[in-house]
Amino acid sequence: MKDQAPPLADLDYELLRRAILDRLGLDYPPHKRDLLRLRLAARLRVHGMRRFTEYYRLLKFEGSDDEWMQVANAVTNNETYFFRERHQFEQLGALAPTLAHRSDVLRVLSAGCSSGEEAYSLAMVLGNVLGGRRPFQVMGVDVSTAKLDQGRRAVYSPRSMRDNHPPPCGVDTNTHLEVEGDGSLKASRALQAQVTFRWTNLADPKLAATLGTFDIVFCRNVLIYADDSSMPRFHRSLEQLTALGGHLFLGHAESLLGTQAAFEPVRLGEHFAYVRGAPPARASHY
Ligand SMILES: C[S@@+](CC[C@H](N)C(=O)[O-])C[C@H]1O[C@@H](n2cnc3c(N)ncnc32)[C@H](O)[C@@H]1O
Repeated sequence: MKDQAPPLADLDYELLRRAILDRLGLDYPPHKRDLLRLRLAARLRVHGMRRFTEYYRLLKFEGSDDEWMQVANAVTNNETYFFRERHQFEQLGALAPTLAHRSDVLRVLSAGCSSGEEAYSLAMVLGNVLGGRRPFQVMGVDVSTAKLDQGRRAVYSPRSMRDNHPPPCGVDTNTHLEVEGDGSLKASRALQAQVTFRWTNLADPKLAATLGTFDIVFCRNVLIYADDSSMPRFHRSLEQLTALGGHLFLGHAESLLGTQAAFEPVRLGEHFAYVRGAPPARASHY
């Protein structure tokens, strides 16, 4: 059956691709053009439009923040699950007790947290390894308001627990995630109290800087959707968000090698993370 989405002409595609890259830092290269068409089609329907040209004009000339929120909800890829890339949570478990003296409260960020599984995974691990000896706070930030709302509701399908390995650092998920009548998983009140969610756009370093600095930043599977032109803005945000000497964890397909970002790779067991150093002198601005 043919989909109901209108065709996306070359010029409209180029204009919408550029607008999304500028605003959200996300690239839709030619092989994802049809995905962009399908994802934005619902916005055309909401506005009673039949052509992408009309929708581009709306974004360009009247594009309210609310409409851009809806675009972000539509075009972001939000795939996530509890304890994804489990080994990084094991590394965090080994690292966190050694960092705990750095500030009164250990501040930990899930940057690009999607629906919150990563943020709650961080809180479960930190609760276990710090054992109440050191207070910590986890913040999850994302550009998708729909996913942040789910994080605040804290209710997940069993698929969010799709990693079949035992949870890292001896975490007992039964004490943190309650099984509801319909099989869904709900974060306990105690776990929810350790995690807050905030909206931000990581492609806008000025906005990201308002969140303060964090001792540990997980920013995984976010940079893979940026391109060369938007990547420096994400790097700048990560520099501002990571305290001097703080640790940054990226996803396995992501790296800062060969960039100007103020991080040094550091070996943690068989893998590595990044430590925030002093920023390099920069001639350009982002
Ligand atoms: C694939 S998910 C990764 C979720 C989680 N970090 C993980 O690894 O499981 C990527 C998330 O990054 C968010 N994201 C993409 N661009 C962003 C931006 N400019 N600012 C904030 N969040 C962004 C998306 O909305 C999405 O929820």
